[in-house]
Amino acid sequence: MAKNSLTRRQFIHIGTGALAATSVAKVVLQPHLLSAAARPVAPSDTVRFASIGTGVRGCELLEATTHVPGVQCVGVCDLYDSRHTAAREAVGNPGVAATREYRTILDRKDIDAIILAVTDHQHRHIFEDACAAGKDVYCEKPMSHTVEDGFAMVDAAQKNKRIVQIGSQRVSSILYAKAKEIYDSGKLGEVFSINAYWDRNTPSGAWVYPIPPDASEKTIDWNTFLGTAPKRPFDPVRFFRWRCFTDYGEGLAGDLFVHLISGIHYISGTTTIAQRAQSSGGLFHFKEDGREFPDLIETMYDYPDFRLTVRCNLNNAGGEFFAFYGTAGTLVIKDSTLTYKPENTRPEPEGYSTFGWPKELREQYLKEWDQQHPATAALAAKVEDEGESYTTPPGYEDTVDHQANFFNAVRTRKPVTENEMFGNSAAIGCHLSNFSYFNRTAAIWDPNARKIVKG
Ligand SMILES: NC(=O)c1ccc[n+]([C@@H]2O[C@H](COP(=O)([O-])OP(=O)(O)OC[C@H]3O[C@@H](n4cnc5c(N)ncnc54)[C@H](O)[C@@H]3O)[C@@H](O)[C@H]2O)c1
Repeated sequence: MAKNSLTRRQFIHIGTGALAATSVAKVVLQPHLLSAAARPVAPSDTVRFASIGTGVRGCELLEATTHVPGVQCVGVCDLYDSRHTAAREAVGNPGVAATREYRTILDRKDIDAIILAVTDHQHRHIFEDACAAGKDVYCEKPMSHTVEDGFAMVDAAQKNKRIVQIGSQRVSSILYAKAKEIYDSGKLGEVFSINAYWDRNTPSGAWVYPIPPDASEKTIDWNTFLGTAPKRPFDPVRFFRWRCFTDYGEGLAGDLFVHLISGIHYISGTTTIAQRAQSSGGLFHFKEDGREFPDLIETMYDYPDFRLTVRCNLNNAGGEFFAFYGTAGTLVIKDSTLTYKPENTRPEPEGYSTFGWPKELREQYLKEWDQQHPATAALAAKVEDEGESYTTPPGYEDTVDHQANFFNAVRTRKPVTENEMFGNSAAIGCHLSNFSYFNRTAAIWDPNARKIVKG
């Protein structure tokens, strides 16, 4: 802030800037037709699908499908028997066929598509088998457990010409579509700095899930859960809190960074993988429960055209936040509200260093500056630009829109935005973050070798 007396022009700007923070009306966005209007779909166009993995997310997705027109759940599969019941409840059909064996589902000729919501370390082989069986796949995020898994999954999808959508639902959100519209309009100017965080401060947010009383080796197929992970005796903590352990999940990077990275890739139109990542963090609070991942992690990513900083902290309830800092404006998404605020890009007389000038010289400088910069209508118009603010309607669920986009693509064979390539790039962002954290070094993406190497 200039220390000398404010010019008239500076005063006007500061006045309107303060107004902008308070007077911009929030516009409530309207849901997409896909999910909101329940467009009728001819019975012959009904997509018949099954869900493999019907834990927490699988059940959420099943419930979401009940709001999507023209789809029918005809089978569910999970390794834990009580989840067959939970899935039937979620989909509202007590008679839907349930099995522990996913191949039974893939062998069925009456099934067009699979929702794959198993633990991350099981994504690859079921995904590959589903593609080979001719099923389209909605695969939960993060797409891959390892870099190698991701490229194998891309190959499987492309070789078998499947419609694949990865499950970072923000990519189908009406709020993110509005953010993308603003970003693409050029209103932000050039964006070199992006910042995102997702902080939670509850046991649930830190994956300290209760163990159901009926959990046992009788009700759970423990060996199949382990899959290619190291063999170990039945451990319900590992089964229900798998995100905490490197054998099955990717910690905060795989759970939450992937949503932030997917949202940023979508809004900014980024298709490249970050070139470099540097992480810092630690296990500060949840030290006693045997987890292997940190409860705080921050990663700085280098992309060709911008720098991105991402943080997840399980020790503060900061919520979800994105900011795109441009030369002409700032776009912020905080939970379900999007705000765009223009920068003051109007020419201004320099108002800091002249504080050290004698009054006479300062006034002469200001007078000459005014003469050289006559006010124009365009400049005056900019003073009126107070920015924009948007929110989603009450009860809006981007998961329903994401599901609707997938099933629509299954029907039309038109490509989706969050396909296997998109999902693979976002997941590699998570792997870069963890590689850097655990190796205490910068993580460099080598695109030719398709590997992460130490920096
Ligand atoms: N998009 C989102 O917002 C979101 C939210 C939560 C979870 N997820 C993702 O969804 C997936 C599932 O997470 P969750 O929270 O539901 O975990 P969960 O532990 O509640 O459920 C996973 C289920 O997968 C089943 N499973 C594992 N291997 C299997 C196999 N070979 N055959 C059949 N079933 C198998 C397990 O029995 C378990 O019930 C993960 O990839 C996770 O990252 C996404």
